[in-house]
Amino acid sequence: MRQQGDIGTAGTRDLSLEREATRFREDVISGLGTSPKRLSSRYFYDAEGDRLFQKIMACEDYYVTRAEDEVLREQAPDVLQALSGGRNGLDLVELGAGDGAKTKHLLRRALQEGRTLRYRPTDISAHALRGLELALGREMPALAVCGEQGEYFELIRRGFVERGTPTAVMLLGSNIGNLPHERARVLLKGVADQMAPDDRFLVGFDRKKDPAMILRAYNDREGHTRAFNLNLLHRMNRELGMDFNPERFIHAPVYDPGSGQAKSFLVSTCQQEVHLPGQGEPFRFRAWEAVQTEMSQKYDDAMIGALAQDAGLRIAARFTDGRGLFSDVVFARRD
Ligand code: AVJ
Repeated sequence: MRQQGDIGTAGTRDLSLEREATRFREDVISGLGTSPKRLSSRYFYDAEGDRLFQKIMACEDYYVTRAEDEVLREQAPDVLQALSGGRNGLDLVELGAGDGAKTKHLLRRALQEGRTLRYRPTDISAHALRGLELALGREMPALAVCGEQGEYFELIRRGFVERGTPTAVMLLGSNIGNLPHERARVLLKGVADQMAPDDRFLVGFDRKKDPAMILRAYNDREGHTRAFNLNLLHRMNRELGMDFNPERFIHAPVYDPGSGQAKSFLVSTCQQEVHLPGQGEPFRFRAWEAVQTEMSQKYDDAMIGALAQDAGLRIAARFTDGRGLFSDVVFARRD
């Protein structure tokens, strides 16, 4: 098992950072060089983005975090039961663990129940992962923790099931909603294909609800989501030496209750050019031209059922908060 603070040696971390920087540059060139312009929401999460996302999760208008927290806090015993199939031992793999705040309800409860538990958090951010490992070392010294840095598809490709104890994989926070249906299906199927009959996969889904409430969540009154979105421009300036003037862009979220998609845009308020060092032609923005930076899918039971069906999974259990805002769904293989 890895020791605390041992996430990636200095050498490997530098290598992956370099690869990440190249990929960021390439994605910016292709995303801003086409029409309509777009940038991937994966680039929100630099150190500043991580900090702003913590603020979003703590603010009143972003109900998502608190709704799921309620589910995992109040229904922890039943969720654990559903994840472990009534057995004592459990290997808990979490994709995109972040600060692990919601998962801690399950971890604490499992320790109280005297379960043999191993927690395997993963995250794309080595910084977030190290923080989580340090916090868990302090708060739950008895817990076996084994972190792994990487992004979803890479981790799934590497394989995560270690035979012996049942494995439960978790993808919380409606992180799945950032993926278009086909990518979400591929992700679910990638996990499903590695699961044994006793293994479980818990996925958090933000549900369709009052459109005004959803729109508020992506346009919170404290301005954290706005800052989070605009941070992408600051990040391109910082890391790629670009010359965005963030004052010439506005944060513009929309919610389409038909498709259940919330989308965030950065909209250029004027005609302008932005430069990337080493790139001959500048990127040209027309007045009111939009760059899509995120899509967050909202689900109903029919959509969750269809996703499960398409991925070869069946629903083993479902846990929803008291207001019906958010569902944590436990899947098993369908065979
Ligand atoms: C972490 C992807 C679930 O889409 O609701 C929050 C990210 N973006 N506010 C979401 C986010 C703007 C969040 N996810």
